[in-house]
Amino acid sequence: MGVNQSWTNKSFSVVGVYIVHLTPAALYFRLSLRPKFKDQSTMIQAYNVNMCYKEDIQVLHDVSFQVQKGEFTFLVGESGAGKTTILRLLYRGLVPTNGELVVAGRNLSTLSKSEIPHFRRQIGVVFQDFKLLSNKTVQENVAISMKVMGIRRSEIRNNVNQLLHQMSLVHRRDAYPEEISGGEQQRVAIARAMANNPTILLADEPTGNLDPKLSLEIMRLFENFNFRGTTVLVATHDIALVRQLGRRVIRIQEGQSIEV
Ligand SMILES: Nc1ncnc2c1ncn2[C@@H]1O[C@H](COP(=O)(O)OP(=O)(O)OP(=O)(O)O)[C@@H](O)[C@H]1O
Ligand SMILES: [Mg+2]
Repeated sequence: MGVNQSWTNKSFSVVGVYIVHLTPAALYFRLSLRPKFKDQSTMIQAYNVNMCYKEDIQVLHDVSFQVQKGEFTFLVGESGAGKTTILRLLYRGLVPTNGELVVAGRNLSTLSKSEIPHFRRQIGVVFQDFKLLSNKTVQENVAISMKVMGIRRSEIRNNVNQLLHQMSLVHRRDAYPEEISGGEQQRVAIARAMANNPTILLADEPTGNLDPKLSLEIMRLFENFNFRGTTVLVATHDIALVRQLGRRVIRIQEGQSIEV
């Protein structure tokens, strides 16, 4: 998998300046080393990704993996292994120190700041710490991304009702996040991530606060979602659940990715 290690993910203009300073032969060589970004069957591609939070804290070492369109994959690893870091890199919440990421057909190193909101509309994220809006009710939290996209009110109402029903949250629809339990907050976060019918669902420990029965129900819901076309990547500690589902597993160990 040829990857230009010296390629830094700065801005497009920096890349442009870099390219015009290469001779034609060097440019041809460089471009021929680049990964094939037009591969429509692959939804997520990570190539030799390194991530340092500070100069001396390297969390990811040459992590490479792919997730095909329509796959349901688990990302596992011990606490602190780098699962959340990987998910943050995939929705462009972080920029890698070096290496390349291609998500939903976009090379993230060429994504400008103004393109990020549009890119993220294709991605539903269940955050490990939920990130619910404290001044909005359960149903308003679930509806928020649909509102931003300008979807019709009646459609939003129908989708929210359906999601609240699936998450057993109908009776808590008018409550605020601080008035509901951890497990209920987690289900609101899941409903919100699914509301836009995203191309990719990234879920970070989505069952961390749920009992085994509910965890399995949520996973079945993800499977159903996946069956209808969404590519799903779930970071989890819950090895029993992973075994039960029998899906492909990418393990992060000592900062490196291992396919299991
Ligand atoms: N903003 C940051 N600054 C410095 N170090 C960080 C930062 N965020 C995470 N880290 C470190 O990076 C490593 C990986 O963190 P990450 O949150 O990706 O792990 P994780 O696999 O998701 O862990 P967990 O299972 O506990 O959620 C940890 O050692 C963590 O302390
Ligand atoms: Mg984490």
